[in-house]
Amino acid sequence: MLGSLFGKETVVGIDIGSSCIKAVQIEPTAHGWELVNAAVMPTRPEAIKEGVIFNVADVAADIKTMLKNAGIKANGAICAISGPQVIVRQVQFPKMSEAILRKSVKYEASKHISSSMEDSVVEFQILGDVPDSNMMNVMLVAAPRDVVFSRVSALEAAGLEPLVVDVEAFSIIRSFIEFNATDEYLDSTVALIDMGASHTDVNIVSCGEFALTRNIPIAGNSFTNAVKSLTGSLFEEAEIMKLQMTANQSLDEIDIEDPNSRCWRVVQPLLDELIREIRRSVNYYQSQFPEGSSDSHVSKVILTGGSARMRGIDTYMSNKLTIKVEIADIFKQSAINVERIPKEFLSEHGPILAVGTGLALKELMVESKRKVA
Ligand SMILES: Nc1ncnc2c1ncn2[C@@H]1O[C@H](COP(=O)(O)OP(=O)(O)OP(=O)(O)O)[C@@H](O)[C@H]1O
Ligand SMILES: [Mg+2]
Repeated sequence: MLGSLFGKETVVGIDIGSSCIKAVQIEPTAHGWELVNAAVMPTRPEAIKEGVIFNVADVAADIKTMLKNAGIKANGAICAISGPQVIVRQVQFPKMSEAILRKSVKYEASKHISSSMEDSVVEFQILGDVPDSNMMNVMLVAAPRDVVFSRVSALEAAGLEPLVVDVEAFSIIRSFIEFNATDEYLDSTVALIDMGASHTDVNIVSCGEFALTRNIPIAGNSFTNAVKSLTGSLFEEAEIMKLQMTANQSLDEIDIEDPNSRCWRVVQPLLDELIREIRRSVNYYQSQFPEGSSDSHVSKVILTGGSARMRGIDTYMSNKLTIKVEIADIFKQSAINVERIPKEFLSEHGPILAVGTGLALKELMVESKRKVA
């Protein structure tokens, strides 16, 4: 690592979304962790599909410009993967050493994962022994090589050393649960739902631990495309109309003269379908426990991602799911000092910074463990 030879290694978390790129920089100070900088910029249209960056050079140039304009100086970066092609699953394997599992992990993973192993990158983490058995729990992550390496290449081409490739689900859990200044989520089960542009991730977290993640292909772009078809406008125009819309009325109250009402009429069925899929994920999680077990009760839904900014979405979703729904305010309850960053920036972009914040925190946690060791 040249950066560390010639001075301090500074790391930035970069969340390369299909609609928006976010950068977050956090530093350890004498008074704890501090958010020192953050930046957001739109991703070029069509640059990313199904998690793969097709336009690596342009995306890299944009990242470079974004960091420069925001005054973020970093030599290392951490990014994440997610999407329909990324598989994250907790599975059981016979007890074996990490070295032996590494040799056979692709073969073992192929028993649990249906997609082709040849073009996949497979990583794992041994979580611990299954009590009273000769098995152990392992977190398995598999993703197409293109999803991983197009991101690594974009960071490199932007002049950053890619330090780690994380999974978005883990990153959100880190920023919202592990770095929560309260113990609120350590003895309950919650669904952390990231509603982006191309997909929605449902992450169930039980007693602070990852339990499951599911990817649903309904998100911001689905809503914008519905408005686009309704109005015959360009995607960008439909996007602006969508941002003005409120998720609140029932269909029979709709005034068809009012453009917001007309947009809502075409978005509502899609949002309802998404909510049904979220309900299915919660039911699937709960089906793994004996009926009535308190461990299975999902007490709250917490929304992150740009589509969580749709006006009225929390109340609407809460009524449909009959679960409390909150928009994540990752910095309100977190152990990270945010005084340096303008309040308006955080209130506007807070929900979309969850992944980037978790990425920025990842390397810091590794660093602090190294210091303790
Ligand atoms: N006020 C708003 N109302 C409704 N939707 C919004 C609002 N603000 C942003 N969005 C939507 O949020 C989406 C972008 O969110 P985000 O930045 O989380 O996505 P992304 O991370 O780039 O996408 P993905 O992770 O799916 O690749 C866009 O679809 C955008 O239209
Ligand atoms: Mg995203």
